[in-house]
Amino acid sequence: MRCDEKHISGALVVVTDLSAVKALERNQRRVEHLAIMARFYAGIAHEIRNPLAAISNFIAMLPDRFDDPEYRDTAVRLLPMEVSRIVRLADRLRLMAPSEGGRLSVVSVSPLLHDIVAIHSPTAQEQQVKIELRCPDELPKIQGDPGQLVQLFVNLIKNAVEAMPDGGTVTIEVDHSPSRVGSDSIVIRVLDEGTGIDPAVRAKIFDPFFTTKTSGTGLGLSICREIADFHRARLALFPRSILDGGTIAEVEFPCLPSESAPT
Ligand SMILES: Nc1ncnc2c1ncn2[C@@H]1O[C@H](COP(=O)(O)OP(=O)(O)O)[C@@H](O)[C@H]1O
Ligand SMILES: [Mg+2]
Repeated sequence: MRCDEKHISGALVVVTDLSAVKALERNQRRVEHLAIMARFYAGIAHEIRNPLAAISNFIAMLPDRFDDPEYRDTAVRLLPMEVSRIVRLADRLRLMAPSEGGRLSVVSVSPLLHDIVAIHSPTAQEQQVKIELRCPDELPKIQGDPGQLVQLFVNLIKNAVEAMPDGGTVTIEVDHSPSRVGSDSIVIRVLDEGTGIDPAVRAKIFDPFFTTKTSGTGLGLSICREIADFHRARLALFPRSILDGGTIAEVEFPCLPSESAPT
């Protein structure tokens, strides 16, 4: 504050306490998360009830039709299929559980991504898809659960490969964005040359059990979102190019301060 052109008579310091705003934001995220989980559990219950209903119908008919060859043939064909639907679902759910109780450790992104690419390239190659990794050697570390991080990137790569039925290249790009305020971040992008996401379904792709594929589970991206939230990371999918199509899946992780990330 100035009393005239030359003299400063005082200073006004405005301190805004943002903790209430932050608490509201946290609460909002929690409410959204609970809503997603409620839909998720309802979806799981539905997925389990369907094969169970088929199995219990067959069991109910067993006393009357035990000697009917047609009944036995159908039972032999259908029962294992219905059981394996439940087993597959149980396997997916087990994978969602954070490994080692979801304990976080210091993770180097580069070797993790190199391993994932080495393991998954041969399968992608069978579908004429090449996976290219562009990752700087020197990167700050992040805090994460390596098992969950593998699952996150494998799901994104799998979606990218599945979006390219005629083959192409999946590029994984890693950038370090230094920040002057707050913490640095590492941005990992999975870019494909696929069909892109129909704007009409864009809002639903993170919903559990939403799929546009005949043999999809619709669980991939909802699991990815869970894992990203657990890591305080931001996950978004957006169109790559208006002309050429394709999708970019982007995950942004907060970095660890360099002193807590020894090399
Ligand atoms: N890279 C991508 N390109 C095009 N569509 C995608 C991509 N990733 C996800 N999607 C869309 O999001 C939907 C949900 O994906 P996801 O949850 O992984 O389930 P699923 O792969 O079993 O269908 C997919 O069915 C697809 O329509
Ligand atoms: Mg998927």
